[in-house]
Amino acid sequence: MGPMQTPHKPLFRFAHISDLHFSKLQWSPSQFFSKRWLGNLNVCCVRKAMYDPEGLTTLFPLFHEHKVDTVLITGDLSSTSHPDEFALAKQFIEGLREEKFQIFTLPGNHDHYTKAAYRDKVFYDFFPSRYEEKAEFTLKNEGITTTSLGNHWWLCALDTALATSLISSQGFFSSELEARLESTLKKIPEGDRVILLNHFPFFSNESSRKELLRKEALRALLERFSPIVKLFLHGHTHRHCIADLRNSSLPIILDSGSTSSKKEGSWNLVEISSQGCSVEAFKNSTEEGCSSWKSFSKSFFHW
Ligand SMILES: [Fe+2]
Ligand SMILES: [Fe+2]
Repeated sequence: MGPMQTPHKPLFRFAHISDLHFSKLQWSPSQFFSKRWLGNLNVCCVRKAMYDPEGLTTLFPLFHEHKVDTVLITGDLSSTSHPDEFALAKQFIEGLREEKFQIFTLPGNHDHYTKAAYRDKVFYDFFPSRYEEKAEFTLKNEGITTTSLGNHWWLCALDTALATSLISSQGFFSSELEARLESTLKKIPEGDRVILLNHFPFFSNESSRKELLRKEALRALLERFSPIVKLFLHGHTHRHCIADLRNSSLPIILDSGSTSSKKEGSWNLVEISSQGCSVEAFKNSTEEGCSSWKSFSKSFFHW
């Protein structure tokens, strides 16, 4: 722990947001043949009251104020994977791009919500599957993509989302994906560092219906590559969390929480320098119907 203001020159600053859950209620009768009817029922009854993705534009001035250069979004951009919902999420992301922020995103379970959305990978009709032109793998086909962030830092993202049954929201870290992640990390130049993005955490203390299958394999791989993978960013739980697991040969874990949540919206501002990283957490506080973002914790982790 230490002060946010470090004497070290930052290499880059990013904002981590997640679980935006853009929604648009659909009345098409065909939804009753897919899981979407349950999602829409959820939109009617719960989601509209719980999330305010349209209010996310209040983050733009804050990102400028804190000199954010990159925004990382760890999935669940939509509620039921409907193209209209992806279009709303894309509009938000285009808005960020117009403000000159660099954006990287990946799908969560709500973005491969129905069997058809999962089969057709509709998410990638709206959002890039490859983070840079020369990346060996794509999120859409191989479930993994990588890009250099400069200054000996790399970003690596996984797509572990699945279409699941009505009552489940599991993810799956397949053995094929494990092999690709391993070969990707082996190619990272010596001394360079990696930020890994995934929708799901690699540990779970809640219902097995919500967890990442083969999470033990991901955890074991992270242990093997602990000198390289420094940060693991995820969402899905809708609970803000910062955990330094380096004593267990694991990365520093950051869960931004659900940024659009009306009750407990949150996100993290992360500044990377050659000495360490600082994490400042913000939460949404609504006073007299007016929402504003307030800083509620600051941590510094030495490398
Ligand atoms: Fe979510
Ligand atoms: Fe999720």
